[in-house]
Amino acid sequence: MKDKNLKIKEAGDTKQTFLVTGGAGFIGSALCNALIRQGNRVINIDNFNDFYDPKIKKQNVAPLEQHENYHLYKADIRDQDVIDEIFKTHPVDVVIHLAAMAGVRPSITMPAVYEAVNVQGTINLLNAMHQYGVKHMVFASSSSIYGNSKRIPFREDDPLERVISPYAATKKSAEEFCYVFHHLFDLNIVALRFFTVYGPGQRPDLAIHKFTRMILNGEPIPFFGDGTTMRDYAYIDDIVQGVIHAAGFVQQKQPVFEIINLSGNKPVTLSEMVQQIEKATGKKAVLNRLPMQPGDVVLTYADITKAQKLLDFKPETPFEKGIDNFVHWYRTIHNL
Ligand SMILES: NC(=O)c1ccc[n+]([C@@H]2O[C@H](COP(=O)([O-])OP(=O)(O)OC[C@H]3O[C@@H](n4cnc5c(N)ncnc54)[C@H](O)[C@@H]3O)[C@@H](O)[C@H]2O)c1
Repeated sequence: MKDKNLKIKEAGDTKQTFLVTGGAGFIGSALCNALIRQGNRVINIDNFNDFYDPKIKKQNVAPLEQHENYHLYKADIRDQDVIDEIFKTHPVDVVIHLAAMAGVRPSITMPAVYEAVNVQGTINLLNAMHQYGVKHMVFASSSSIYGNSKRIPFREDDPLERVISPYAATKKSAEEFCYVFHHLFDLNIVALRFFTVYGPGQRPDLAIHKFTRMILNGEPIPFFGDGTTMRDYAYIDDIVQGVIHAAGFVQQKQPVFEIINLSGNKPVTLSEMVQQIEKATGKKAVLNRLPMQPGDVVLTYADITKAQKLLDFKPETPFEKGIDNFVHWYRTIHNL
């Protein structure tokens, strides 16, 4: 990816301080690593919840824990007092807010928890930013906000359809609160609508990870619908670069409030995804055919013109290579 002027400080330049929420998770830990490599300071707030095995999150943060520029708080963004205390202690240049209850299907059975973390938690951070004079935020939003939109590919200025899961409702609501704090208190915010992110370190609940595990174990994989549903996958390294460029962009000219799609820009069918994993693992999948799940959307496909223009975003990893990298990582960590 070309860097234009969006690059944040490289090692040796004046350091910046990033407050990353959810920095023990899949995207957050990859981001923290990249920010530290570039010579920045990182304050990571994560509650290491058990949405998936917290041991994975501990492993994610282990390489950075001793680094002098890295500060980890095991804390919950639902706790305004704790968040305020952290903002009081550290001057922060940019907040990168990734902490969330992620995942569409579990949100259906626990919408209140999703609301408390994804909406109230976001408001707590916005409050703290306003109170302590922190002006810049990059917020992790989601493609799920587009619901089953008929306009393809999805553009940020599309009139939004109804959302169809509690998770999507919380992300849409959090985006609205970001705008409200921008409007009322001049906070500068970029909300990035991530499309399905994959690659080494991917969450174990997401399909590519789950299918790889089951195919390698010889278990039948749950195959929802007829295989024609499509997802616009985004490779982790491309997303991390997009987030870093957004952190540069949000500090450049003010006031700024933007919503920007980030994806690989090439939708892949469920059948093609399974075929790629079969190729990378060298094993044939056994399909357990099931009806479409409520809350699931049929297609995600992003128009990334705005990301290209404002963030110089250019997804560089072809899906086949990304799956090979994922399967290689999976085999390595499981000694297979
Ligand atoms: N991975 C994707 O495909 C994808 C797609 C669209 C949007 N997103 C969004 O990107 C962000 C990161 O996703 P991810 O895949 O890395 O998920 P993840 O679950 O691996 O990371 C989220 C992190 O937030 C932490 N967290 C959750 N609740 C918290 C709380 N109350 N207080 C403090 N920390 C808390 C978790 O412990 C976890 O480490 C999320 O906001 C998610 O909604 C992800």
